[in-house]
Amino acid sequence: MRLVEPASALVGDLAVPGVKGISQRGVLLGAIADGESELRGFGHAADTDVAIEAVRQLGVEVEQPEEDVVRVHGRGLRGLGAPEAPIDCGNAGTVLRLLLGVLAGQEGRFELVGDESLCRRPVRVDEPLRLMGAEVETTDGRPPVAIEGARLEPIRYELPVASAQVKSSVLFAGLLAERGPTVVVEPVATRDHTERLLASAGVRLQRRGSEISIWPVERIPPLSVDIPGDFSSASPFLVAATLLSGSELRIHGVNINPTRTGLLDVLARMGARITIFNRRRYGGEPVGDLDVRAAELVATEITADEVPTLVDELPLFALAAALARGESVVSGAGELRVKETDRIETVTTSLRALGVRISASENGFRVRGVPTRPKGGGMAAHGDHRLAMLGAIAGVLSREGVRLEGAEAVGVSFPGFFDLLESVTQR
Ligand code: S3P
Repeated sequence: MRLVEPASALVGDLAVPGVKGISQRGVLLGAIADGESELRGFGHAADTDVAIEAVRQLGVEVEQPEEDVVRVHGRGLRGLGAPEAPIDCGNAGTVLRLLLGVLAGQEGRFELVGDESLCRRPVRVDEPLRLMGAEVETTDGRPPVAIEGARLEPIRYELPVASAQVKSSVLFAGLLAERGPTVVVEPVATRDHTERLLASAGVRLQRRGSEISIWPVERIPPLSVDIPGDFSSASPFLVAATLLSGSELRIHGVNINPTRTGLLDVLARMGARITIFNRRRYGGEPVGDLDVRAAELVATEITADEVPTLVDELPLFALAAALARGESVVSGAGELRVKETDRIETVTTSLRALGVRISASENGFRVRGVPTRPKGGGMAAHGDHRLAMLGAIAGVLSREGVRLEGAEAVGVSFPGFFDLLESVTQR
């Protein structure tokens, strides 16, 4: 149990670890590239380290010459070998789903397992990968899962739900297909780190409206990637600094890919004072420094079209809404039910226990906000990293502090979170 005490302001400068999704994608793509790929600014965490362990099990050598530099010695497009033991994806849905896309085009039979949380979540990529010709066996649609690689046929696949993970898995398989193009149709735009990374590696890829087409390649040249800070890891700080009067915080080198920064748009229309300066590019990704000042917020609504741009920030949005004047509503976010926990359930019950007036709906939630600190109390992270960070931010914003059960779950995406928070907290 960790006690997170109330704070008066967040002041100072900080930088957050590299984008989790780019770190994972870089390792997986580097594994099937030719020769030595280098990922700089790698965001080490449990979820990204399982990507490294997974490709090692598949015969790929990975070195770590410096703290945040990872070198992947790629085996070439079809060079991955089936290990004896199952590949453990831990808590990481992204690793499970994207790796299945890569393995669909390899020779051999591969088994993938995950932790208890991952084994409760739908695999979802089994259907499209089967349509492309791979043999996929799941456990009632969930992990453990076994895949037998094949010579893949291109497909045109309309995503049944807006999911960047499913999109990315099919695109990776499309790289390995016999012919092209493989086409993925998105109902709503989702994060495009995969497309940007592939394009930067010279892969032929085209987006027309909601359709993304990818053509197979003969080889992938080694990658050289600078990974900016993860917007999702910056978000707890954005919310806390906005809501603590007197805050003045700068977060440096944050990825501001518009498919990820929905929380910025939402906070802006609620009245937040966050400015982006020093805009630049790291390879294919936009980067900026964020300056956050405290502000009073008003309620807002979020609907399905906007949800993918802040899907992982909706727990934090619920907390911001709790301190914003008026009623905020989120709908079209049913995906939250199949994240690391059922986040509609866990977020609403946790925040309610801290004194927030929030209620769940089938595909979202409703918050009655008041511009007063919530009381505080006890809550549990249930092994969910986003919930652990939510509890911490609720603690600094509360009147009496928050006793957080399972705070160590932050290690899934952001092991240094509490130290960094402490470094900018004024009591
Ligand atoms: C991710 C996509 C999102 C997100 C997850 C990471 C990715 O999931 O929730 O944390 O890296 O592609 P879905 O696209 O499946 O909703």
